Amino acid sequence: VIKRSFSTSMAKNAIKNVTVIGGGLMGSGIAQVTAQAGQNVTLVEVNADVLKKTETSIATSLARVAKKLYKDKPSDGEKFVAETRGRIKGKNIDIKHKLFKDLDAAAPPTTLFASNTSSLSIGEIASVTNRKDRFGGLHFFNPVPVMKLLEVIRTPETSDETYQAFMAWGKSIGKVCITCKDTPGFVVNRLLVPYMAEAVRMYERGDASARDIDTAMKLGAGYPMGPFELNDYVGLDTTNFILEGWHKKMPENPLFEPLESMKKLVSEGKFGIKSGEGYYKYDKK
Ligand code: 3HC
Repeated sequence: VIKRSFSTSMAKNAIKNVTVIGGGLMGSGIAQVTAQAGQNVTLVEVNADVLKKTETSIATSLARVAKKLYKDKPSDGEKFVAETRGRIKGKNIDIKHKLFKDLDAAAPPTTLFASNTSSLSIGEIASVTNRKDRFGGLHFFNPVPVMKLLEVIRTPETSDETYQAFMAWGKSIGKVCITCKDTPGFVVNRLLVPYMAEAVRMYERGDASARDIDTAMKLGAGYPMGPFELNDYVGLDTTNFILEGWHKKMPENPLFEPLESMKKLVSEGKFGIKSGEGYYKYDKK
């Protein structure tokens, strides 16, 4: 949810106050990079425990960023961390249902809305509001403080002004923006999710081990992580949710068939790195 402080032709960023709803992996990263860019952020989370964890994970990530940016002057790094954290306000609100509908009724008409959904239709989410022209998609990538890309998604109803404001805002927080239509998975996930699913199918057939498939894609194709490492990193619950949603909508497409091994791991609470186990096991910190 993005509140504009004034209206311009949007040549430069006019968005100064940002509200991020949800403090999971993505929400915390989005709040962090926004605050790093000098903007005020309110981070809304329905679960108080999650909100606490979010604050800790932002502090850890900021320390990594500061170490890199201020390696010659650690005292400036400490100042950067303190100032950035000072721009983020945590808010624990119990809005579980009809989120955007409720927000639409509560927010000023000038407020722009955006969703960071990885796989749902922006148009469908926007349809519950009365501001379809001021609604779009802003899709980030994990880890948000590191990945440079921001997908800016326009529905047929997103106005030019809203689109320009989103593009300028993305640039203001240091991201490279691309524009895409409101199609399933936009650009990155439409390519990445079927690729990760094909790797799992290969493993399920017993063609190669997960470890060897990962080694193959890192050393043979130059990917920073193999598909199983990436699945565990993104979260198996997330990839599984994406695949199940797309399969329901497009049952004829074999690329979106849900995966037996992934469904089993998810049903056992094995979501990947965040739960300590997925396709691999991790030391719990
Ligand atoms: N916060 C801040 N900085 C971080 C960070 C974080 N959470 N995670 C990593 N970094 C920084 C490190 O400090 C390090 O900085 P340096 O190079 O200046 O020292 C740098 O990033 C590299 O980190 P590491 O040395 O720990 O590890 P790697 O070199 O293995 O890089 C990685 C980690 C950036 C995650 C890399 O493995 C990578 O790019 N992996 C692929 C990630 C990817 O594909 N993401 C997209 C997933 S799809 C998605 O998000 C969409 C969603 O809708 C599902």
